[in-house]
Amino acid sequence: MPMVRVPVLRVAAIFSNSFSLSAKLSQATEAHSKGAMPGPILKLGDVVPNFTSDTTQGTIDFHSWIQDSWSILFSHPADYTPVCTTELGRVQMLSNDFASRGVKLIALSCDDVESHNGWIKDIIAYNNISTGFSFPIIADPGREVATLYGMMDPDEKDAKGVPLTCRAVYIIGPDKRLKLSLLYPATTGRNFDEILRVVDSLQLTATRKVATPVDWKAGGSCMVVPGVKQEDAAGLFPKGVKVHEVPSGKVYLRTTPQPE
Ligand code: BEZ
Repeated sequence: MPMVRVPVLRVAAIFSNSFSLSAKLSQATEAHSKGAMPGPILKLGDVVPNFTSDTTQGTIDFHSWIQDSWSILFSHPADYTPVCTTELGRVQMLSNDFASRGVKLIALSCDDVESHNGWIKDIIAYNNISTGFSFPIIADPGREVATLYGMMDPDEKDAKGVPLTCRAVYIIGPDKRLKLSLLYPATTGRNFDEILRVVDSLQLTATRKVATPVDWKAGGSCMVVPGVKQEDAAGLFPKGVKVHEVPSGKVYLRTTPQPE
């Protein structure tokens, strides 16, 4: 594996798990322009890094903004780009579905607040949104937050040759720990119905000893997790557990109706 030089600034940010936007970023920017930044370092279960940033709804301290909610931080390569305009419109249309699950939404794009505010008018118009635009968009022209979170895509550059962010999604639990991440390239728009489906699974499996199978949707039958002893299964799942017989004779395919 090739050795990757990690800029001192990035190491400091990782170890402090916090970042001030007043920090000088010339090292990181130089590393970006050379395409030398390492990939995402955030791991499932990590407390996500804190930062302070300007957004379309004022300056936020990210951890304070999360409070004790579920939240989703998702990034866009740049303002006034076509795929991003469709994605943000879709998220706004689904915003009540996220809110009903107790999930706060926050987007990020590599432009400033003034640019974001102009772009929001286009997003509302293009997507025929009648409700206004309810969630903040982080301004990240210096790519500080994007760098901290490993969102940068060295292959996608703006007109000046500076790398842009990919389409990242970070689903964060009320404990501020990373529950799921996705990285899509700029050329592939995301499916936010899938993100809602994933939230349903994450919230269910956070408190019940089940896992959700392929193509599961809320209300569908679930798999009993392997760690549950067969003698405990009936007590844990009063709706019943079905053991599916397989040629190996092993008891591991156990389904149960979705627990309350
Ligand atoms: C878009 O949002 O359409 C886009 C942004 C950057 C590169 C390619 C597409």
